[in-house]
Amino acid sequence: MSSSPLLEVRRLSRSFEKNHPILKEVSFSLSQGSWTILAGTNGSGKTVLMNHLNGLEKPDQGEVLFRGQKIRSMGDEIRRKVGLVFQNSDLQFVEQTVERELAFGPQNLKLPKEEIRQRIEQVKDELGLEEFMNRRPHSLSGGEKKRVAIGGILAMEPELLVLDEPFTGLDWNGVNQVLHTLIELHKKGMTILLITHDLGKCAAHADRLILMGDGEIGMTGTVEEVLPHVEKWGVRKPEGLTWLK
Ligand SMILES: Nc1ncnc2c1ncn2[C@@H]1O[C@H](COP(=O)(O)OP(=O)(O)O)[C@@H](O)[C@H]1O
Ligand SMILES: [Mg+2]
Repeated sequence: MSSSPLLEVRRLSRSFEKNHPILKEVSFSLSQGSWTILAGTNGSGKTVLMNHLNGLEKPDQGEVLFRGQKIRSMGDEIRRKVGLVFQNSDLQFVEQTVERELAFGPQNLKLPKEEIRQRIEQVKDELGLEEFMNRRPHSLSGGEKKRVAIGGILAMEPELLVLDEPFTGLDWNGVNQVLHTLIELHKKGMTILLITHDLGKCAAHADRLILMGDGEIGMTGTVEEVLPHVEKWGVRKPEGLTWLK
């Protein structure tokens, strides 16, 4: 337990308007290889918090540390280490084919052509995207789009994958595709932070659960420890807790 966590958030505060804090001294940490769910009602500050985890947004107070290093001293490197998968995949896509979409991140990193090719191959196989490579990302189903969006981030080889409400708008099949993808990535050692207001779909697969309410961290612990208390933070309890591992 002596080594520093992969990511640590220390007393992070942020407001957009005076006297109206959106994040209030938020602290938590993520250990390497863990799968953590960050749950909270709409408007509790989850998305704003996510945008601070790779330096996209700057806090008023507090720090984010990656492997013990303050991310504001890491420059652009942190964007690669912490990959954010935004809620709306359509807004994340910039290219006309899935293949080019997967190449976009590595190209921006100015990696050698051969390295880019290898990364695309790997992500394609890892996420089962073979049959979509020449399709337009916007033409895919919800679950396929989300897999491509995840693939585009994985192609930059992040050490932490953060997903904002990845199940929103997906049908049952889409949810299963995305869940399966996350389960496989977790098995291979990827550290995952899954942001959701809907625990039913994912609670059984995660290790840790963080509850957020009104810009503050409510409770942190194992899924088993925290799950009985979620309703105090306005999060619906998944039905049939017995199916939990
Ligand atoms: N750029 C912004 N300017 C002002 N207020 C914002 C901005 N972004 C988010 N907020 C406010 O911060 C609060 C938390 O938003 P958000 O993080 O999106 O919640 P969640 O993702 O938990 O649903 C909301 O009240 C929202 O209106
Ligand atoms: Mg949100």
